Parts: sequence; C-alpha cells; structure tokens
Amino acid sequence: MSKWLLVKFLLTLPMICFCHVTFTNLNCSSYNLDFMSFPTCRIKAVNRTHKYISIYAKLNQVPIVDARVTIQFRRFDSGYKPFLYDLSYDGCKFMKTQKNVLVKTFYRTFQRNTNINHTCPYDHDLIVDKLFTGNLEEEFGRFIIIPNGDYAIYTDWATNKISRASVKIYLKILNR
Ligand SMILES: *[C@@H]1O[C@H](CO)[C@@H](O)[C@H](O)[C@H]1NC(C)=O
Ligand SMILES: *[C@@H]1O[C@H](CO)[C@@H](O)[C@H](O)[C@H]1NC(C)=O
Ligand SMILES: *[C@@H]1O[C@H](CO)[C@@H](O)[C@H](O)[C@H]1NC(C)=O
Repeated sequence: MSKWLLVKFLLTLPMICFCHVTFTNLNCSSYNLDFMSFPTCRIKAVNRTHKYISIYAKLNQVPIVDARVTIQFRRFDSGYKPFLYDLSYDGCKFMKTQKNVLVKTFYRTFQRNTNINHTCPYDHDLIVDKLFTGNLEEEFGRFIIIPNGDYAIYTDWATNKISRASVKIYLKILNR
C-alpha cells in the first residue's frame, strides 16, 4: 500500500467507532477561590451504560478577555503518563477563528453542552451540562483508534498568564 493510500485508509476507517468510553473520575480544582470556584463537578450515572459530566464554574472576576487552555492527554501505565502531544491554545483566538483542527475536535465534544460557545469576553459563569461519553466516542473515535486502557485528559485554564484552574477527566476505553 502506498503511503498516501495508507493515510487515506487511516482517515476513513475510524469513521466507524469501535470504542466504548466510560468516565471513571473527574477532578475540578481552582488555584484561587477569589477568582473562581466549582460549585458543581460531578459524574452522574443515568443507567449501567450511560454517564455524564456536569461542571459549573463560578467566575468572580469578570469579564474574561484573555484565556489560554492547555490540554494534555495521558495514559495509565503505573501512573498517568503523557501520551500524544500537548495542546496549548489561545482560547479567545480559537473561539473567533475555530481554525486549529485538534482543538476543534476537542471543542466539538462539548460544544452543544456548554455556554462557552461564543467569542470573548466572558462575563458570566461557565457550565458544561450533561456531557455524555457518547460525545467523546463520536469525536475522538472518528480520529484515531485508541487502544484499550485508562486515560486522562488534563486541562489547565489560565487568564493573563496566570493558571486559574485545572479540570481532569479520567476515562476508560474498551474497544468492542
Ligand atoms: C485534583 O487536582 C488538583 C490540582 O492538580 C490536585 O492538587 C488534587 O490533589 C487533586 N485531587 C484529587 C482528589 O486527586
Ligand atoms: C441509558 O440511558 C440513555 C440516555 O438516556 C439511553 O439512550 C439508553 O438507551 C439507556 N440504556 C439502557 C440500557 O437503558
Ligand atoms: C450557544 O448555546 C446556546 C444554548 O445551547 C444556544 O442557544 C446559542 O445559540 C449558542 N450560541 C452560538 C453562538 O452557537
């Protein structure tokens, strides 16, 4: 198979998602409670197969006109170790242009479940409401086939070059 064909094959194959994703843990942590806090940060099980995440971030110093988001993918192997590469992106710039493909994939997983869905400034509290694992399966499953295992998505949220909060999502991936 030529290299080009292989690339095409890899891009089309994952359109069918073989994976099952389940949330195992969630950790929202504010570095400065005067700046923001998390009244809600929880995983809720609807039934045996469906769980969702709800996060409420209360912002005490608005408006926010500058935001940097760093996303780290980690895989469990005697500790959560970095896997893939880190993404660090100007959040306000992204919301304006929606250009970066990887950031866009990440954003699409929760786009329909959040009020972050507009350009800066942010002068209100932020929520992610009922983000089901199905959202992740749709977006990431389309991209790459990820081997079974325990994973974590570490996100860090900064404004004016100061780290404000971290949100870590822990998942288990089971390919059928
Ligand atoms: C949650 O994350 C914060 C920030 O990284 C860390 O300090 C804290 O220990 C974590 N909490 C738990 C229960 O793992
Ligand atoms: C679990 O809940 C989801 C969402 O409400 C629903 O779509 C699914 O069919 C339910 N599954 C079972 C086994 O009841
Ligand atoms: C953001 O989401 C809300 C609620 O789902 C929706 O009413 C609104 O139209 C969305 N805004 C944009 C710019 O997509």
